[in-house]
Amino acid sequence: MTIKDTGTIITFQNTRFGYDGYTVIDRLNFTITAGDYLCIVGKNGSGKSTLIKGMLCLLNPLQGEIIFSDGFKKETIGYLSQETAVKKDFPAGVFEIVLSGAVGSMGLRPFYSAKEKRRALENLETLGIADLKERSFSELSGGQQRRVLIGRALCASHSLLVLDEPAAGLDPLATAELYTLLQKINAEMGITIIMVSHDIEAAAQYATMVLHLQNKQCFFGETKEYLNSAIGKQFLGTEKEDRNDF
Ligand SMILES: Nc1ncnc2c1ncn2[C@@H]1O[C@H](COP(=O)(O)OP(=O)(O)O)[C@@H](O)[C@H]1O
Ligand SMILES: [Mg+2]
Repeated sequence: MTIKDTGTIITFQNTRFGYDGYTVIDRLNFTITAGDYLCIVGKNGSGKSTLIKGMLCLLNPLQGEIIFSDGFKKETIGYLSQETAVKKDFPAGVFEIVLSGAVGSMGLRPFYSAKEKRRALENLETLGIADLKERSFSELSGGQQRRVLIGRALCASHSLLVLDEPAAGLDPLATAELYTLLQKINAEMGITIIMVSHDIEAAAQYATMVLHLQNKQCFFGETKEYLNSAIGKQFLGTEKEDRNDF
């Protein structure tokens, strides 16, 4: 099946992931359609990052399959991992980091093309950080650093961004700005977004689809439907309680 026929880019078919023979998540059955803004939610340890690693082919399924549609190049997924999101002391400049996203698609060519440099600049503009181009990454605020890393992921992909907890550690304002930016990238650039977040209230405002994991697939469907479902209401309730505990 081609993307043109169905819009589907990735299909999980009865997929199971785990480590050293033990299962972390089981019975995944869902599809990702071009243009989706999918939010993956679930408690800590529920297997969200494991699923992302599986999707990026960094981890083989223990069972079942991940099917990439014809015409979809999995090498050009723009990825922001949970780990990179917290590395704050990169010894490099902003433009250099954003541009380095293009490395995966350069093959053996040892230099960046003019087109790649132009795209890196465009991405800086889109992310509202063109004025930081010459700055050193380590001296930026957490919110600015996160934008730079998203800029790098955008240089890696024309079609799909995968972000694992991109707002982790940011204050509420920087978090809201980041989510708004991702919504703009999705709506205006037509880029599919898959984002892991435990901030379900925020995700509900922006994401079109929700996948809820608890060591299996508990829910997959439209955000509206999720918010009206028993599991959605329960998760939203417990998240609020957790926050009130502080
Ligand atoms: N590299 C690994 N080796 C063994 N177990 C792992 C590894 N990474 C994660 N796990 C385990 O898999 C489970 C799910 O982890 P993870 O996917 O990181 O959850 P989440 O991202 O939802 O917090 C946890 O029990 C975790 O300890
Ligand atoms: Mg995780």
